[in-house]
Amino acid sequence: MFYDESLVEEIRIQNDIIEVIGQHIKLQKKGSSHFGLCPFHNEKTPSFSVSADKQMYYCFGCGASGNVYTYVMEYENYSFVDAIKVLADRVHINLPEPEMSEETKKAYQYKQKLFDANRDAARYFYQGLLSEKGEKALTYLNERELSETIRKKFGLGYAYFFRDDLYKYMVSKGYSEQMLLDTGLIAVENGNANAYRDRFFNRVMFPIFDIHNRVIGFGGRVLDDSQPKYLNSPETRLFDKSKNLYGLNIARNARKGHIIVVEGYMDVIALHQAGYNQTVASLGTAFTQGQGNLLKRYIDEIIIAYDSDSAGVNASVRAIPILENAGLIVRIANLLPYKDPDDYIKSKGAVAFESVISAATPAFIFEINQLETKYKLDDPESKTRFFSEIARRLVHMENELKRENYLETILDKYQIKKEAMNKEMELLGKDVGIVQEQKQTQIEEKSRRNEEATLVTEKNLLGFVVGHRDIYDAINQLIKPDMLLDETYQRLATMIYKAYDEDTSLEPARFINQFVEVDEQTKVARVFNHNIHVESQGQLEKMLNDLVYHIKKQYIDYMARKVSSPSDLQALLDEKRSIQNLNITLKQRN
Ligand code: GTP
Ligand code: MN
Repeated sequence: MFYDESLVEEIRIQNDIIEVIGQHIKLQKKGSSHFGLCPFHNEKTPSFSVSADKQMYYCFGCGASGNVYTYVMEYENYSFVDAIKVLADRVHINLPEPEMSEETKKAYQYKQKLFDANRDAARYFYQGLLSEKGEKALTYLNERELSETIRKKFGLGYAYFFRDDLYKYMVSKGYSEQMLLDTGLIAVENGNANAYRDRFFNRVMFPIFDIHNRVIGFGGRVLDDSQPKYLNSPETRLFDKSKNLYGLNIARNARKGHIIVVEGYMDVIALHQAGYNQTVASLGTAFTQGQGNLLKRYIDEIIIAYDSDSAGVNASVRAIPILENAGLIVRIANLLPYKDPDDYIKSKGAVAFESVISAATPAFIFEINQLETKYKLDDPESKTRFFSEIARRLVHMENELKRENYLETILDKYQIKKEAMNKEMELLGKDVGIVQEQKQTQIEEKSRRNEEATLVTEKNLLGFVVGHRDIYDAINQLIKPDMLLDETYQRLATMIYKAYDEDTSLEPARFINQFVEVDEQTKVARVFNHNIHVESQGQLEKMLNDLVYHIKKQYIDYMARKVSSPSDLQALLDEKRSIQNLNITLKQRN
C-alpha cells in the first residue's frame, strides 16, 4: 500500500494528537504534557502522557508509545490503510487511490470485493429475517429469548428456503460466479457445473466477523431438530477458522480482565445479552494454537465455559494446554446441573452467572479432578497410583512458587502428608525416564521460546536502530537485513538501511505504509513504539552486543542447517567463533 509520503506526513500534521486521543480519553494538561488513563492497559491512576510538542504518546505504566497513526491503529485495531482513511477524513483531505503494483492492487481489490460480497449477503439475510419470508425464523429467535438489540448487534438473519435465493440476488448485484464461489456462500451442485446452489437455505444466519468487524463467514442453524444442526462457511481466502473467534470483535474491547470461551454461537449471544460481552466461541472446531495466541494479544486470563456434558469436559481438557502454551492463565467454569451457558442464563439469570465465573476452577485442579475419576480412592493400590501421578504433574510444573501453592492445595484436599508427597516427588525427579520425558517437552518448549525470543530480539534491535543514527552506524556492517529471520523485519530493515544511507526521514508512517497486511503493519508500528529504558551508555552498549550476538548466532545456526558444502560450513563455524569477541562501542553521547 503506497501513499505519497508527503501526503502521509500532511495528514499526520493536521491531525493534532491531543485532539484525536481526546476523543476517547479525558486528558488533563500538566506542564507541557497531557495526562489520562491509559487505553492500552487497565489502570486507576493516569500514567498515559501525550505530548503536544512531540505529537507522541507514552504510557509510564505499560510502555505503549507512538504517534497519531499508531494510536489509531492500536486503539481501533485498524490497519494502516484504515487509520489513514479515518485520519484523512477527519481533516477533509481527499485520499487518492493507493499506489501499488498491478498485481498487488488486483489481489487487494479482489479481497475487498469478497468482503463486500459477504457484507451484502449478511445484509440480505438480515432483511430476510425481518421480511415476511423470515417470519418463522423470527419467531424461533424470539422463542429463544433474543432481544431485538442483540439480534441487531450480531447481525442475525435468515436464509430463505429456495436453494438459489441468495445466488440470484447476488448475481443481480453484479457479483461474478467465480467470486460467489470464493465466498463459500455458493457451491456448484454435484455433477452439474452450471447449477449454482446456495450453501445455506432455510437457516437462521450468524455472520462471523473478524476483529475489524468485517464479515468473513457465516454459521447457519436449522429451525427445528433436523441435521446438521449447524452449518458453517468453508475456509476461504477471508475465513481461517483457526485464526478467528466468534464474538472477539466485541470481546476484545470488553476490558473485564478475562475472556470467556464457550462452545456455541448461541452461548456467545446469550452471554452478551446478559452483559457478559467478554465472551467468544471457537467456531465449531477444536480450539487451536492460533486462537490461543490471538486471545493472548488481548488478555491474560481465560475462563472456559464449555458444555457440561462429557464432550465439553473433554474439549476443556484439550484446550487447557493450548491456552497455557500461549501464556494464558486458565480457569474452568462449572455449569452443572445446566447444559451450557445459554441454558444456565435462562434458568438462573444473568446475575447468578457472576458466581460461576468467580468460582471457576484453576486449570491444574480441574485436571486433577478429571484424573481422580479414573482411580478408585477406596483402593489403596489405585489411590497410590493416583497420588503418584499427581506428584509427577507437580514435578513437571516449572514455576516453583506455583508448584508450592498447588502442592499445599492438593495436600489439603486429599489429606496427604507433606513428607510423603515430597519424597515421591524427589524420587520422580530423579527417575531417568521421567527426566527424559521432561527434557523432551522442555526442548519443544525451548524451541518455541527461541522463536519468540528471536522475534523480540529482532524487534528490539530495529527499535534501537530507528531511534539513533549512531547505533545504525555501529551495527550496519555487522547485521545485514537478510540476517533477520522474520520476513517483515527483514523488509523493514532493508528500508531503514536505505533511509539512513540516503539520509531520508525515518517517519514511522512512511514505513508502515509499505506493508499490505494488517499484521505486518502492526508489527512495523511496534518497532517504532520501542521503549527500552537504558540507564547508561555502558548498559546500552552491552544490550547492543547481546542483541547482535543473538541475531548473528541464530542466523549462523539457521544457515548451518541449510548449507551442504564443507567449506561453507567451515566459514559459518569460523564466523560463529568470531562473534564471541563482539565489541560494539558507541561514540560518547551527550
Ligand atoms: P443450540 O441448540 O442452538 O443452543 O446450539 P448450541 O449453541 O447449544 O450448540 P451445540 O452445543 O449443539 O454446538 C456447539 C457448536 O458446535 C455450535 O455453535 C456450532 O458451532 C457447532 N455445531 C453444532 N452442531 C453442529 C453440526 O451439526 N455441524 C457443525 N459443523 N457444527 C456444529
Ligand atoms: Mn444451546
